Amino acid sequence: MQIVSISSLKGGVGKSSVVLGLASAALEAQVPTLVVDLDPHGDASTALGVRAAPGQDVGSVLRRPRKGAMASVATVSPWTRHPITPEVRGTRHHAGWQPWGSPTARGPVLDVAPGSAASSHLDHATYRAKDLKRLETALHGLDRYELVLIDCPPTLSALTRMAWAASHMVLSVAEPSLFSVAGTRRTMTALAQFENSRIWAVPDAGVIVNRFRDGSDEQQHRVRELQDLFGQLVVDPVLPDAPAVQQAQGAAWPVHRWPGTAAEDVSRRFSTVLQGMMH
Ligand SMILES: Nc1ncnc2c1ncn2[C@@H]1O[C@H](COP(=O)(O)OP(=O)(O)OP(=O)(O)O)[C@@H](O)[C@H]1O
Ligand SMILES: [Mg+2]
Repeated sequence: MQIVSISSLKGGVGKSSVVLGLASAALEAQVPTLVVDLDPHGDASTALGVRAAPGQDVGSVLRRPRKGAMASVATVSPWTRHPITPEVRGTRHHAGWQPWGSPTARGPVLDVAPGSAASSHLDHATYRAKDLKRLETALHGLDRYELVLIDCPPTLSALTRMAWAASHMVLSVAEPSLFSVAGTRRTMTALAQFENSRIWAVPDAGVIVNRFRDGSDEQQHRVRELQDLFGQLVVDPVLPDAPAVQQAQGAAWPVHRWPGTAAEDVSRRFSTVLQGMMH
């Protein structure tokens, strides 16, 4: 099982969108996946078509964590029942697009541990070291999933640190803009300090560039700046700014099933990123 946090101390850069794109890629590739929505706003849960029933959310599990308890709130995403329309199948086929997973006898597995305001009791700066084990404990032994994607809030709170402590990999999302580059620096510095405590090594880290607009010199400059700062950690390919991303989210559809060439391009990029993460 690969546990990946999608994080950034800057808000609105696309953390939830990256979680959703990777979940869509995992569904397409038939990688059994659990999305853990740590953000008290629950945006990823909403776009995955899942709403927390009272007491059946991530915050309630983390309040009194037991080994593997996240399974008790995992809810099947309606994305798994989403048909591939002939139009979408046709365009994907034309472009030589292929799902790369092997079909499983279990059928598609995409579950969501829904977020809600209940987790805000942990969204603060102070915590005890043992609090950081809560999420790791709640995910313990959930072997039916090959991938766990954790959507983090945009704060360096106990929630974010709990996510990092449970993760094999932390992806920091950055937009190619001045303030976002500065935000990524802060995130990566915080991550390095966290790892330096030596108790909480995160084996892998990456910076994923989102909302890239090809024609913009300023944006190309910012991507080069990120590459100078973080070298090999910058994930290839970058993710384009594409209205299809917002449209698919608004309709609670996986972007891999959204029609049109822009959705196809962004889907292929998410699949490539996922493939890189799983090896
Ligand atoms: N690649 C993209 N192309 C077009 N729109 C995008 C893209 N990525 C994100 N967006 C849009 O930008 C907005 C912010 O994205 P998102 O909610 O994913 O950010 P976030 O980092 O999770 O925000 P928060 O910090 O509030 O949790 C959303 O409306 C989303 O649809
Ligand atoms: Mg978000």
